[in-house]
Amino acid sequence: MDKPKTFINKYAPKNTKDIIGQESGVNALRNFLTNYKKQRKKAMLLYGPSGCGKTSAAYAVAEELGLDVIEINASDCRNKGQIHSIVGVASKQMSLFFRGKLILIDELDGIAGREDYGGVPALVDVIKNSYWPVVITANNPYDNKFSSVRNASEMIMFRELSSNDLFFILKNICDAEKIKYEEDALKTLARRNAGDARGAINDLHIVSVTGPVDEKSLNDLSMRDKTDTIHNALTKIFKSTDVNVAKEAFEFVDEDLDKCFLWVDENLPLEYTEQLELARAYENLSRADVFYGRITRWQHWLYLTYVNDLMTAGIASAKDVKNRNFVEYKPTGRILKMWWAKQKNMKKKAIAEKIAEKTHLSAKDVRRDIDFFKIIFKNNSEMASKIANEFELDAEEVAYLKK
Ligand SMILES: Nc1ncnc2c1ncn2[C@@H]1O[C@H](COP(=O)(O)OP(=O)(O)OP(=O)(O)O)[C@@H](O)[C@H]1O
Ligand SMILES: [Mg+2]
Repeated sequence: MDKPKTFINKYAPKNTKDIIGQESGVNALRNFLTNYKKQRKKAMLLYGPSGCGKTSAAYAVAEELGLDVIEINASDCRNKGQIHSIVGVASKQMSLFFRGKLILIDELDGIAGREDYGGVPALVDVIKNSYWPVVITANNPYDNKFSSVRNASEMIMFRELSSNDLFFILKNICDAEKIKYEEDALKTLARRNAGDARGAINDLHIVSVTGPVDEKSLNDLSMRDKTDTIHNALTKIFKSTDVNVAKEAFEFVDEDLDKCFLWVDENLPLEYTEQLELARAYENLSRADVFYGRITRWQHWLYLTYVNDLMTAGIASAKDVKNRNFVEYKPTGRILKMWWAKQKNMKKKAIAEKIAEKTHLSAKDVRRDIDFFKIIFKNNSEMASKIANEFELDAEEVAYLKK
């Protein structure tokens, strides 16, 4: 699939000089790879906050040293069999064209939670037996379950980018794209993204679509943020593997639980494309639905936390790694349909009440007979207008009966 032409793709660092603010990390990685044969530990673990350049650094240094990158999703590290079928051959053989290789295990955090797969031991096995250097990236490698990986790896910290670094990155993109900007506005954008170059560049892209980057366009952006909380919530659920992040996703969302539910339901298949992940996620969503049903039926409000946890953390942990493609979340078609159905029902009810009042029938009886009125309204406009007058039906109600 073609990647969308976002600034993130267009301005991904092409070589190590493009990686801002991580000189010591980049140098350490280059040294490690250059002197790989002499290293006591056979892997290097790059860790640091999201969007600070870890994955970019691995690719840029590999490029510089002429190494082919074999990237493995941490989620594929489930058991020895799988791992060996992926890296086994590559990790032990010389390249056909005598190019060296680098094995990149991206986003170690994604291996989380599935002890039954034996992912961590399988990974350690790869590290110990690989002919080629292994580079691992992670946001938080200090979880207990990663201790064996830490022991087997050289640990290198990638620092959180400063707002000056971010400003510099954004300014370069503005210059290349001929985007007009106010320096202060660009600095604000940098500061707001607190060390996350990916976030800052994405914001810049959004703001610059409509014109120059200035105080006004930044205000519009933060307005967008406010009205956009449902999108943020979905991002936390779909793009994070951290259950604590996911659990709080709907905390600040000013929407009914029903609607949040439908948003998750509608967008889930867009994000999770692996069958197994999708199945796990829907399993959790349907369990949330069962609890929700119990709440509405029996008022068991205590179940509310289960509903929330299942539809947030339950969905987040159903995936092995996040889908790195940008997914545009769609409002649910079902909400619209439900709304229509409700509107129609309300019309029907209103009409029935008006007729019931004058005919001394129950509204329920009239509702049942509403189809007869519809037949009259469709076929006999003279009688229809008499009925409409008699029961004081308004134009919309008449339209409903004529449909
Ligand atoms: N130090 C940096 N210098 C220049 N651009 C950067 C830097 N860090 C990140 N970026 C920009 O942000 C994008 C994402 O960076 P990258 O994928 O390397 O982050 P990461 O540290 O691997 O984050 P994550 O932990 O979320 O995987 C890059 O394509 C690049 O455009
Ligand atoms: Mg990365």
